[in-house]
Amino acid sequence: MDQNQLKKATALAALEYIKPNTIVGVGTGSTVNFFIDGLADLDFEIKGAVSSSEASTRRMQEHGIKVFDLNEVTETIPVYVDGADESDSGLNLIKGGGGALTREKIVAACCEQFVCIADESKLVETLGKFPLPIEVIPMAQSLVAQKLKAMGGEPMLREGFTTDNGNIILDIHGLQITTPLAMEKEINNIPGVVTTGIFALHAANILLLGTSEGVKKILPAD
Ligand code: 5RP
Repeated sequence: MDQNQLKKATALAALEYIKPNTIVGVGTGSTVNFFIDGLADLDFEIKGAVSSSEASTRRMQEHGIKVFDLNEVTETIPVYVDGADESDSGLNLIKGGGGALTREKIVAACCEQFVCIADESKLVETLGKFPLPIEVIPMAQSLVAQKLKAMGGEPMLREGFTTDNGNIILDIHGLQITTPLAMEKEINNIPGVVTTGIFALHAANILLLGTSEGVKKILPAD
């Protein structure tokens, strides 16, 4: 199977976590796109979804899936389904390859369970080979870059990219993220950082990993 087939198989496996008559939290990316297409084909009704990006909202609306404004939802949202750029064995993630990290973190925080869907290339021993995306308020670009350099990273501006929230992304190369929770908090404390792509405070609860031997269900290691 090629990477796209693995992504699709994994995304469709996540449909098992969706219950009738519920609102679903929906992430962003090419793996999630397969999940959205699967949601549209379910043989039972869902109430709709809350979305983590304009791109996912558009795709769901094209399928006729109702997308709720997150602030209007008062009921429990049982499941958030999203991809990742990297996961470690504790299911701490790097996210934001598609630039939607802030809304992804917000929606993940509103849902009871985070089911991460990824192909096997995304499971790593230590986070950081994938450049860490950080959403930054534009006037803080230099400040945040300096602070990340002091932490051992090499910041690169994502050229020609603006987030759904009107901000920039710095991609930080060369970090070895051995203590994801501590690093997430440290980066969050830099003025001008909107969100770091480390998802440790809101790590995944379940990782569905697409492998050539099938989709494996992985729970966080102690
Ligand atoms: C978007 C994300 C995506 O989940 C991540 O980049 C993985 O994307 P893909 O499923 O296309 O490999 O965090 O901000």
